[in-house]
Amino acid sequence: MTDNSRKPIRKAVFPVAGMGTRFLPATKAVPKEMLPIVDRPLIQYAVDEARAAGIEQMIFVTGRGKGAIEDHFDIGFELETTMKERGKDVSILDGTRLSPGNCAYVRQQEPLGLGHAVWCARDIVGDEPFAVMLPDELMWGEPGCLKQMVDAYEKVGGNLISVLEVPRESVSSYGVIAPGKVDGALTEVTGLVEKPKVADAPSNKIVSGRYILQPQVMHTLQDQEKGAGGEIQLTDAMAKMIGNQPFHAVTFDGRRFDCGSKTGFVEATLAIALEREDMGEDVRAIATRLLG
Ligand code: G1P
Repeated sequence: MTDNSRKPIRKAVFPVAGMGTRFLPATKAVPKEMLPIVDRPLIQYAVDEARAAGIEQMIFVTGRGKGAIEDHFDIGFELETTMKERGKDVSILDGTRLSPGNCAYVRQQEPLGLGHAVWCARDIVGDEPFAVMLPDELMWGEPGCLKQMVDAYEKVGGNLISVLEVPRESVSSYGVIAPGKVDGALTEVTGLVEKPKVADAPSNKIVSGRYILQPQVMHTLQDQEKGAGGEIQLTDAMAKMIGNQPFHAVTFDGRRFDCGSKTGFVEATLAIALEREDMGEDVRAIATRLLG
């Protein structure tokens, strides 16, 4: 193993090039990552989670029609100037400004899969371990999911993924791990398979959209081998590192909302609204009345 294996995690890759067809027509002109859960766009939750885990550079793998994401993380110069002139508080925008040193954008020009998207960031990632965060998966808890993983990484090094258990009949939509030894929230990963048939799945523990990876994964992705669905799969590239480098799964202590699905999106909206100090009580009353 290289000396890289415990270098701090400073960079996170956000694959945000997807077309978001499941949310049409909402996503015809608006990136799905910009759809709000209450009043924050989905991507903001992932960036905040990254920041809380000590990430310094956010790398967005974007595509055509995703310009709103860049605008969101820029300084809203006209907006802020106007608001200040009118005596309005702009602190609500604090988490949205990423300075040029703290963010980078690269395009995935063709939809060739998650592995390909991550590979598009290889020059910006360079030769150091990095995180990957799929913003569709909203991980809700304190400390955040990536922070829990970074804490585990500081102990075991190598590669880590977040996992959670799903009903067995749902495994075919996900990457699935073959689990080894379990030590609290940490499970050794002895195998990985992308979107297996239910009968072939090595467990019901699925990869839930957070990764800490050694840079060697980029070398494997370079081969551009196609896997499940004819796509270049990150799961396949990761599987090749098992046995050569430590590989662990972290079971997230918190809640996960699958915001890639409409019902998951509604669930996240309701759950987070119910927890908000400024509206929780009102939303509870409304929900109770609606269900009444
Ligand atoms: C991707 C990954 C899969 C993972 C899932 C989590 O699949 O390939 O391993 O379990 O995200 O949401 P996708 O949802 O892009 O099909």
